[in-house]
Amino acid sequence: MGNVILVKNPATGQVVKEVQINTEEEINQAIKAGHDSFKKWAKVNAHERSRLLSKWSQIIKEHKEEIAEIMTLENGKPLYESLGEVDYAASYIDWYAEEAKRIYGRTVPASTETKRIVVSKQPIGLVAAITPWNFPAAMMTRKAAPALAAGCPFIVKPAVETPLTTIRLVELAHEAGIPEDVIQCVNGSGSVVGRIFTSSEYIRKITFTGSTPIGKQLIKESANTVKHVTMELGGHAPLIVAEDADLDFAVKQTIATKFRNAGQTCVCANRIIVHENIAEAFSQKFADEVSKLKVGNGLDQETQVGPIINEKGYDKIVAQIQDAVEKGAEVLVGNQYNADKEQGYFFVYPTVLTNVKQDMVIMQEETFGPVAPIITFKTLEEAVEIANSTPFGLAAYFFTNNYKTGTYLHDHLDFGIIGWNDGAPSGAHIPFGGMKESGLGREGGIEGIEPYLETKYLSVGNL
Ligand code: SIN
Repeated sequence: MGNVILVKNPATGQVVKEVQINTEEEINQAIKAGHDSFKKWAKVNAHERSRLLSKWSQIIKEHKEEIAEIMTLENGKPLYESLGEVDYAASYIDWYAEEAKRIYGRTVPASTETKRIVVSKQPIGLVAAITPWNFPAAMMTRKAAPALAAGCPFIVKPAVETPLTTIRLVELAHEAGIPEDVIQCVNGSGSVVGRIFTSSEYIRKITFTGSTPIGKQLIKESANTVKHVTMELGGHAPLIVAEDADLDFAVKQTIATKFRNAGQTCVCANRIIVHENIAEAFSQKFADEVSKLKVGNGLDQETQVGPIINEKGYDKIVAQIQDAVEKGAEVLVGNQYNADKEQGYFFVYPTVLTNVKQDMVIMQEETFGPVAPIITFKTLEEAVEIANSTPFGLAAYFFTNNYKTGTYLHDHLDFGIIGWNDGAPSGAHIPFGGMKESGLGREGGIEGIEPYLETKYLSVGNL
């Protein structure tokens, strides 16, 4: 990697900008500065922290077009998705600007007349975040906003593919008046910066969004200094279409969840599980709509599906499609590519596969690409068994207008986020996070600030 990161446009392979990699010494200085700012920031009263966060959100909204363009250049997603992500990112700041004022303690009735018991909350200390390339703005603010609201200083290392959005967001935070040592950005490879973060005694919490293997590594490394961790890791979302579902609606929502960010989201539907009596009708309608999706450079107004982030991601997707086809899957649409390894751009056309079987790699591993494998089921029990047959448990979706079917699926699916007739359940106000190997903790909602707080209990005696 040398001492600079070459940020490339995944739609063209061209270098957008060079970003200086921070040395170990610089990163340790930033950590020390963050730590030193803790006492000062924790003392800023909650209403003032709230005001500063609101100001940050307002400035981000004023720079919406600029940030969205940076995001599309480095990530490749369609411009309208980047514009949406800027709003989504700001919504976390708005939410936690409010929550800052609602960090309540409580009193507990004592067991004798001579005692009083008070439970209070205090910020945990310096927080370090490692954020992903697929949502360079929203995954950063989803962590920064509750940390800052709680009174914790924050230091972020963005993905090497997409550091520019984060660098700009941090500059805007400083412009809003949040002190420079209270929110900082450092750059470098995940393994190097991750090790520096996890080994530092100054950092009290690591929050990470990314792959399960890296999450496991960070958890192990964090054990040495007993850090708190929040981990938002891989997914392998099932999407079940019941026999009674409104097919047109299910098709629309499946497209929304499957092809958002070219299928490169942790919550996108990876396994489409359709009742056998409607499988043909659903698959045909779905494939017809998928074939209309416009693939291209995210900066083109028409584009609905952008490039794959890099060669590694592209190779994985192609290998999964090939494996499925070799094992008997039928391609209804897609299995087409526009990629140049020399130039460094990688497009996969939206692909729909039928006649899919459980032993295909695509049913076992997260795809992170615009491929929709359709498998059929006879009974709800079978649908649930297929859905739960994964170590992951982030998001699941189902489509039914029958309340008994819906209640059964809700009760039996082992996933942290469930969309019932809803392909877009995310939001700043909801607790986002997964079960099993999809992670630890929740981000967003009233739950999302708790991991940045310590509980302190005071017992007053001799009254
Ligand atoms: C993710 O893919 O990790 C985040 C998606 C979302 O917040 O909706």
